This record gives sequence, structure tokens and C-alpha cells, in this order.
Amino acid sequence: MKYFIDTGNQQEIDEALEWGAAGITANPSMYLKENVNFYDFLERNSNKGKLLTAEVVGEHLPDMIEETNKINVISKDIIIKLNYSPAALKMVHHLRKQNIQTAMTLVFDINQAMMAINAGVDYLFLFVARNEEIGVDGITFVKETADIIRSKNYQTKLVAASIRNKFQLSRAALYCDYIAAPYHLMKESFQHPSTQSGIEQFEEEMKKVLVLAEGLSNE
Ligand code: E4P
Repeated sequence: MKYFIDTGNQQEIDEALEWGAAGITANPSMYLKENVNFYDFLERNSNKGKLLTAEVVGEHLPDMIEETNKINVISKDIIIKLNYSPAALKMVHHLRKQNIQTAMTLVFDINQAMMAINAGVDYLFLFVARNEEIGVDGITFVKETADIIRSKNYQTKLVAASIRNKFQLSRAALYCDYIAAPYHLMKESFQHPSTQSGIEQFEEEMKKVLVLAEGLSNE
């Protein structure tokens, strides 16, 4: 299981990539929150050797293709992220023939997931927290989708998205190839009390180890 950092904030992205995150993803709300110039954002993040998604929205294929072409001028490796819809399925089908990778987002049930797989999507963003908000067990949805993908040997990668807490993250990690993780959850991993107290202990003791090593090598 690998991480997509799920944010539009550049500092958070850069730090998460330094920690080893495999990819960058965001959504329109996040671009707006950070007041991001979408195309500059893509330029800046497309040459980092990491996975990067970019939204193409709409209902009409010609417009969506035109927008995809604009993104492709920046890089052909950018994964085109589409909101689940009839037009999105057509786009997946169309872009597959051109070897452009796609991600389907706002996927909430197995029927949608299978439709997107049939169209040939590369990444499926399965929504957990937003599913739970409407009374659906988001983790069971992720697990059952993963079971189908594995039993049929489909190549589509599963991304657990809409992850808001450590419990959702740790459960989804059992079944998914990627987690779209908010920065605060990645950072929270450093705040475990036992890790904190262990660090204090080991740092103190390491100082003594180094003093000892020096003494022993001078003997
Ligand atoms: C994924 O496409 C989204 O960026 C994200 O995971 C949505 O999460 P939210 O439900 O917390 O907005």
C-alpha cells in the first residue's frame, strides 16, 4: 500500500514526497482552498517522478478532450481524474486507446466500480468517509471491491479516498494499492506517545553509546 498525498497545499505535498509518498492527488475544493493556479500546480508537480492526477470535468466529450490535451501539453504522464458519469466512462475508453492513464473518482458502490473497470480505468478512487456519511460501510465496500479485483485478476489499482481518520486508513490499507491520505494523518504517524518516549530514551542512550565507542577506540 502506497500513499497519494491528498492536498492542494504545496508545502504539504513537498514534505509528503520527501517522506516517500508515491503520488499527488487533490480535488477542486482543495485547489480553491489553497488559491491554486491549476496549470501552474500541474507544471510544478509533474516533473517529480511521482504519480500525479489532474481533474477533467464536464458532460461533453469534445470539451473534455480539449481540456485533456491542455494537460497533456504539460505531461503525458499525468493521470486524468474523472468524476464518475456516462461521459467519464466514454473518456476512459477514449483515452485508453491513446495510452493516457485515467482515474475514476467519486466511486461509491460496486456497480460504479465495475462500470469503470469495464471502461478500462487504471485507478479507482473508492470513497470511504463520504460513504459513511450516508450510512454505508465504506470499508466493506473497499474490501468487497478488492475481493472482486483480486479474484478476477483485474489490473485496475484501488485507491482508498475520502479517508479522514486513522481507523479508516488502517482498515483500507489492508485492501487497497494506495491511500489518498490527508497530510494531517501522515503527520499524525509521528505523534505516537510510545514512539515519542522511545525516541527520547534512544537519543539519550545513543549519546552514551557514542561516548563509549570513542573511549573503546582510544584504548
Ligand atoms: C479524492 O479524490 C479526494 O481528493 C478526497 O479523498 C476526498 O476526500 P473528502 O471526502 O475528505 O473530501
